[in-house]
Amino acid sequence: MRCVWRVAIAVGVVLLPAAGQEPGYTFDRAQQFLKTYCQACHEGGSAVAGVRLDRFAAPASLRTEAHRWSRLAIRVRNGEMPPKGSPAPDLDAREAFTGWVEAALRREACAGGMTPGPAPIRRLNRDEYTATLRDLLDIHLDVGQSLPADGAGGEGFDNAAETLFLSPLHSEKYLEAARFAMDFAAKEYKSRARILIAAPGDGISPDQAARRILEAFLPRAFRRPVEASDLEPYMALFRAAREQDPAFEPAILFALRGALVSPLFLFRAEPPNSGSEARRLDQYALASRLSYFLWGSMPDELLFDIAAEGKLHEPAVVRAMAGRMLRNDKSLNFVQRFVEQWLRTRELTAGHEPDAQLFPEYVRDEELRSDIRLQPVLFLRELLMRDESLLHLIDSRYTIGTSNLAKFFGFEMPLNPGRRKQPQWVELPEGTNRGGLMGMPAVLTVSSYPYRTSPVLRGTWVMDAILGTPPPPPPADVPPLEEIAAGAPPKSVRERLTQHRANPVCASCHSRIDPIGFALENYDAIGRWRDEDGGKPVDNSGEMPDGRKFHGPDQLKTILMDHKDLFVRNLAAKMLGYALGRGLTLADSCTVDAIVAEVRENNYRAQSLIEAIVLSVPFQYQAGAARKE
Ligand code: HEC
Ligand code: HEC
Repeated sequence: MRCVWRVAIAVGVVLLPAAGQEPGYTFDRAQQFLKTYCQACHEGGSAVAGVRLDRFAAPASLRTEAHRWSRLAIRVRNGEMPPKGSPAPDLDAREAFTGWVEAALRREACAGGMTPGPAPIRRLNRDEYTATLRDLLDIHLDVGQSLPADGAGGEGFDNAAETLFLSPLHSEKYLEAARFAMDFAAKEYKSRARILIAAPGDGISPDQAARRILEAFLPRAFRRPVEASDLEPYMALFRAAREQDPAFEPAILFALRGALVSPLFLFRAEPPNSGSEARRLDQYALASRLSYFLWGSMPDELLFDIAAEGKLHEPAVVRAMAGRMLRNDKSLNFVQRFVEQWLRTRELTAGHEPDAQLFPEYVRDEELRSDIRLQPVLFLRELLMRDESLLHLIDSRYTIGTSNLAKFFGFEMPLNPGRRKQPQWVELPEGTNRGGLMGMPAVLTVSSYPYRTSPVLRGTWVMDAILGTPPPPPPADVPPLEEIAAGAPPKSVRERLTQHRANPVCASCHSRIDPIGFALENYDAIGRWRDEDGGKPVDNSGEMPDGRKFHGPDQLKTILMDHKDLFVRNLAAKMLGYALGRGLTLADSCTVDAIVAEVRENNYRAQSLIEAIVLSVPFQYQAGAARKE
């Protein structure tokens, strides 16, 4: 289900003054809106689609009918209700209404304080499964390629429980991969030493050796201590195998493979909370949450030890752990998966390639492409490790540089002479227009068409990925942008767009979207700097609906910086959704607000975001069974 949270509607508040939460908006005005535009079809016993306005008539309905309210607001926001042909509100009225609904629902949901929300069972996704096998068996083997890819759910990530069910195809492929990995490990000296820690020999019976091996292996595979009784099924497998063939090793490997088929390995299930009240999560479940969040893999020895001491909810311990985990190479798993899905740059390797004829220098140079793709990932990773301000993502004097990127940008970077090809944290020379995410070619390319820039796509991208305030989806019947006929005088994309902004209906959206993209028009469709487009100087000026004029990326960033809390809120919501592996609910918005406040108090330090998420109620607690959601 596309989550309620996406009602995140018209937070366009400040940047887009036409929209959002109008200060004087009241419950009565919302009622007036419904009466004017909806009553004709949604009143009384014959109400269409079972949507009856009297359900929404009392203020208490914001609490008791929250989900209905939010569904209703989504339909209005998307311009689906009222249907075409009936008298319709203009965009301002629509957004004033939906902005009010969202704020009112949030207020109601937060009235009870922070709540943990659901914690669904999920299978390990492809990346997690691959990494877990690698760490568990201590092998360097990527079994991922043979596994089916996972779709995205929740807040847009492929670790969302909503999508991680187990199909027959999955079980078969996962089992095959487990068998393959175990056979591989059995041939590796290092993994053998790690797993086969006992052997029948002087004074040790085969059964005793098998038991020792399983006692060490199972808690790691299941990511929690095991009881003696949990061992028995695997001892039984071991004995059964020996009845066929008395050799020790094939028999113990058979039993170990059995463990990799267990749901306790394959799924991330937390011991259920059958009580009616929320309770603190069990320490081992917490260790797994931490490690799958920051490493995309199983906990290591130290995490298990701290869990055994029962300390994983102590802020000081969690802080120390978060810092340590981020510095470990495994955190690259997390940052890469998070960033590439958040910014959509994963599409650069999956179908969103620039046109090979127009941009051969990009398409043919694999090293450059890889540097481009990794730049935003490594940038966030450095911010996290250095504990620098998250606002560097909007604008920064630093970036990730390589010799390939320097050549692509057309200026020298102060690269470490010994390793010019390796990505590194560098200070940007003055006036380069490359600071922050929006100076990065990965972002500029993924928000363009393969063959040209689109200020509309870039504007939409900024409103969505950076501010978390995506514009409403476009109406269905919009004619495409006029392409330039052969022989006609060249026109810039901007000139062609001006036409449709003359139409007030189109302008209601495009006067907010396009100016943001215009400011980025100096970057071509693969993010190179240009001063001309279509034979004319690039016009990089824009004007916001409130009359604020600006030009070029620097001034756009200044405006975005004025909305830094909107940006941080969006980032926090995305990362919380990723950390919890599920879509956020209305109730989670209180948690997001608290996280943003915490991060602001800490001068936007990157690690303070991680800490606030890990210490948050939904991360640390488990809802009671009686909860409806
Ligand atoms: C001209 C008649 C008409 C008007 C006016 C109208 N609707 Fe609808 N509405 C429908 C019809 C028909 C459906 C069922 C088809 C659909 O879901 O698109 C529907 C469905 C809905 C649903 C979907 C229920 C569900 O199960 O998802 C919601 C919510 C809704 N309307 C809200 C509104 C709101 C809010 C307004 C006023 C802003 C409004 N409608 C105005 C005809 C109307
Ligand atoms: C409700 C908001 C909204 C309205 C109203 C709207 N658009 Fe759009 N339009 C968008 C969004 C959002 C996109 C970007 C879609 C995407 O991400 O692919 C878009 C994309 C476009 C594009 C593609 C831009 C490109 O670079 O190729 C054109 C052309 C366009 N709209 C023209 C129009 C015209 C003409 C009208 C009026 C008849 C109009 N739009 C009304 C929201 C709107």
